[in-house]
Amino acid sequence: MKLGLDYLDLYLIHWPNPAAMRDNWAEMNAESWQAMEEAVKAGKLRAIGISNFRKKHIDELLKTAEIKPAVNQNYLNPSDMQEELVKYNDELGILNEAYSPLGTGGLLGNETVKEIGAHYGKSPAQVLIRWSLQHGFLPLPKSVHPEYIKANSDVFDFEISPEDMKSLDNLHGVAKTAQDPDKAEF
Ligand SMILES: NC(=O)c1ccc[n+]([C@@H]2O[C@H](COP(=O)([O-])OP(=O)(O)OC[C@H]3O[C@@H](n4cnc5c(N)ncnc54)[C@H](OP(=O)(O)O)[C@@H]3O)[C@@H](O)[C@H]2O)c1
Repeated sequence: MKLGLDYLDLYLIHWPNPAAMRDNWAEMNAESWQAMEEAVKAGKLRAIGISNFRKKHIDELLKTAEIKPAVNQNYLNPSDMQEELVKYNDELGILNEAYSPLGTGGLLGNETVKEIGAHYGKSPAQVLIRWSLQHGFLPLPKSVHPEYIKANSDVFDFEISPEDMKSLDNLHGVAKTAQDPDKAEF
């Protein structure tokens, strides 16, 4: 393998239908998935998943998939909870992986998030990561700062109350919302 590794833990289809494949996305995904399944069988991939797939893309993939996706990685945070998609992934037993759990930083300055953080003695980033975990998501925060990376994993010594979870759930639209995968320009 060119990466110099014997295997990868998780490998995803990033986008269900980039512009170049918009006419035949279902067939292209089916072919990619088959190749990924072969890589699983060959021991090169431990798990395979999808990203930015909505219901119709998942349904189409499942028509030919032998291995069910382990995760569906989506833009998920209090600014966009994508409830229907989350529920559908749950029903299928596909883990909801949450990319941009901090709203690409856009939620860190939000007053509600800051107030709730102050209440628990935690940073806004820690509140958002904990919120994600309490919803059953697998949060995928990014930072280039070692101290932030360490702090972002220090979220297992507090629990956000149901009232505070509700306040955070009500932040729809305060930062970016999810992009429609069928309309992306790339
Ligand atoms: N599958 C997809 O289509 C897709 C799309 C978008 C993103 N992703 C992945 O999701 C991951 C995260 O997404 P993201 O980068 O958009 O957003 P994010 O994790 O929600 O936010 C990242 C921003 O928050 C800052 N930050 C992180 N921890 C912090 C802390 N403790 N205190 C203060 N600031 C903090 C980072 O700054 P610094 O880096 O300067 O610390 C960065 O500006 C990435 O690994 C990315 O590859 C996947």
